Amino acid sequence: MNDLSPINLRPRRLRSSAALRSLVRETEITARDFILPLFVTEEKGMTREEIASMPGVYRHSIDSLRKEAEGALAQGIGSVLIFGIPEYKDELGSSAYDERGIVQRAVKELKRDLPGLVVITDVCLCEYTSHGHCGVINGEKIDNDPSLAFIARTALSHAIAGADIVAPSDMMDGRVGAIRTVLDEQGYLETPILSYAAKYASAYYGPFREAAGSAPQFGDRRTYQMDPANRREALKEVALDIAEGADMIMVKPALAYLDIVRQVRDMVDVPVVTYNVSGEYSMVKAAAANGWIDERSVVLETLTSMKRAGADIILTYHARDAARWLKDA
Ligand code: PBG
Ligand code: ZN
Repeated sequence: MNDLSPINLRPRRLRSSAALRSLVRETEITARDFILPLFVTEEKGMTREEIASMPGVYRHSIDSLRKEAEGALAQGIGSVLIFGIPEYKDELGSSAYDERGIVQRAVKELKRDLPGLVVITDVCLCEYTSHGHCGVINGEKIDNDPSLAFIARTALSHAIAGADIVAPSDMMDGRVGAIRTVLDEQGYLETPILSYAAKYASAYYGPFREAAGSAPQFGDRRTYQMDPANRREALKEVALDIAEGADMIMVKPALAYLDIVRQVRDMVDVPVVTYNVSGEYSMVKAAAANGWIDERSVVLETLTSMKRAGADIILTYHARDAARWLKDA
């Protein structure tokens, strides 16, 4: 053995048994790291409808939503994020800030029946506007500043309904500040804001738009969501949102953006969330259904990679399956 071949350095020593591997494991995911995204509709009674492109994910009536959230909570998943699918849409997205709106009613019921559950609401207009954009429009332009009042009003209505955290996903400039101002003026000083700070204009949202009926009716979202090619700009967006009062920030999507997750984690001192989005979920489900990959292993490996990249919290449609697998492991 010469000096150039230091065979005394054997990383394999620490891999020789499951117990040793477990002892030196650097990253561990648990059910408490997950937020479960849920869709709620205005259907009555105990009904749910599976989303074709997202097997295992449903549009729930409020009763079915409660049952799903209760099941998640029993598994140790302490938080859900609610998306509303309203019956009525118009130019200004008025169902988004209606105090009798679907999200407002769902939040009220969830908080009444499951007070220990952290209920987070997605704050956006795209599910509620007839044109499917995340702000209000002027011709074919998504008009930033006039959108802020509607978005802030939506966040306030969620806080009034009892939301524990409001999560704006619209990507209008200045919306975190606008929401913070309105919440504080109305006495909701304690309601945290989780901002979708670095949200990219991603093709991975395809299945979600089918699920939520929120696809833009003209154009695309590239004038407000970020260009996937940009990294420095994500740091700027995150810094701005924190300066405006964001308590937690999100990087979205997750898997194709783990470099951004890492860099954001190293830059900020607030909790970092990443969103394992619909397209990421659907790809895994499709490959697993074909027998091409082992779903359980791929999901746990993927979620671990997100935490290893620096995410403190992972929003994922796999949350309930993953929690079950982690318990069995
Ligand atoms: C809407 C919104 C989207 C997602 C979350 N909130 C879609 C979009 O921006 O078009 C995507 C979530 C997913 O793909 O799972 N503002
Ligand atoms: Zn939107």
